[in-house]
Order: sequence, then C-alpha cells, then structure tokens
Amino acid sequence: METNKIRFRQFAYDSDHQTICQYHRDHMKINFPKDFFDEDIFLETLKREWQEEPEGMFVVQDTSSAPPRDVGFLWLNTKFSPHRKAKFGDVHYVHLIPEYRGRGVGRLLMQKADEYFGSKGVKTLRLGTAASYSASIKLYEKCGYQRTRVIFEKEL
Ligand SMILES: CC(C)(COP(=O)(O)OP(=O)(O)OC[C@H]1O[C@@H](n2cnc3c(N)ncnc32)[C@H](O)[C@@H]1OP(=O)(O)O)[C@@H](O)C(=O)NCCC(=O)NCCS
Repeated sequence: METNKIRFRQFAYDSDHQTICQYHRDHMKINFPKDFFDEDIFLETLKREWQEEPEGMFVVQDTSSAPPRDVGFLWLNTKFSPHRKAKFGDVHYVHLIPEYRGRGVGRLLMQKADEYFGSKGVKTLRLGTAASYSASIKLYEKCGYQRTRVIFEKEL
C-alpha cells in the first residue's frame, strides 16, 4: 500500500453505516473496553450528525485495488464554544482497519482534518482519546495537538 493511493470519499449513510458500525465496535474494544456498545444509539447519532454536516464525514479508501477498498473513517464536526465565543473543529473520530495502521495513513487523516476546518475558517481543533492508547496519542502529538484537558475516573 502506498499512501499516495489513499483517497477520501463522502460518507453516505444508507450504503456505509453498517461498515462504520463495525469499525466503531473495534474502536470501542481498543479504547473503552469497559463500555457497552449500543449499536442503535451509535447509529442514531451517526445519522443525526451526518444530516447536520454531511460534508464532514469521509470514508478512507485505498485506490490501489479495483474496486477501491474502504479502509477507514474520518468524522469531523464544526461546533461552537460559548466560552471562547468562536467555532471550533471537533475531530470526532479517526479510524483505520488494522492492516492500514502504523503506515503513515493516520497522518493523512489528520491533514485532511486541518484542510477541512481551515476551509471553514475554524482556528481551534479539539479531540479526545483513551489515555491508554499510545498510537492515537503519538499521532495527535506529532500532528501538533497539545493536552489541554484530562478526565479522571474512579471505581467505587
Ligand atoms: C490511531 C490511528 C488512527 C493512528 O493512525 P496510523 O496510521 O496508525 O498512524 P501513522 O502511521 O500515520 O503514525 C503517525 C505517528 O504516530 C506514531 N504511531 C502510530 N502508531 C503508533 C503506535 N502503535 N505506537 C507508537 N507510535 C505510533 C508513529 O510513530 C507516527 O510518527 P512518525 O511518522 O514520526 O513515526 C490508528 O492506529 C487507528 O485507526 N487505530 C484504531 C482506531 C482508534 O482507536 N482511533 C483513535 C481513537 S480516538
């Protein structure tokens, strides 16, 4: 796989939601294994946010095979912060299927997020991830993100 064969196409709910649901199941296992994955709630949120900002959801494709293969998903949301009185970009979700990880494709997703929000005049980008997942933390730090918030959890 060469990174110059990676392309982004717009997500379409009807034809893509089952694939993205599979990705999300894997995503939850990696990042939040204690959390229960409710497929109905996930799909409801996916559909609602797609209807609100359809141009912010992208299926990642490897075009080196014919037909192109779906290999990941990028979900971007433009939000408003009442505290900053400004828009911010929520990098809601980045996901690659296992065999495409660790090969430079994650960086391309983060560049796409920069371009997307840049074209919308957004100045600040935000994202969150599991504290235990070093791949995503490394990727975000290498792409210029800094830690500004930490969430603590405790079991009683
Ligand atoms: C997180 C994820 C998107 C990273 O994408 P990726 O394609 O694997 O990352 P890249 O290959 O572009 O690597 C980017 C940088 O992160 C570092 N990195 C990537 N995976 C790493 C790992 N497992 N351990 C340490 N560093 C890692 C690389 O060293 C690289 O830096 P470099 O180019 O200077 O060497 C991908 O692993 C993934 O889809 N994981 C499952 C879904 C998920 O949990 N997503 C994020 C949660 S919010």
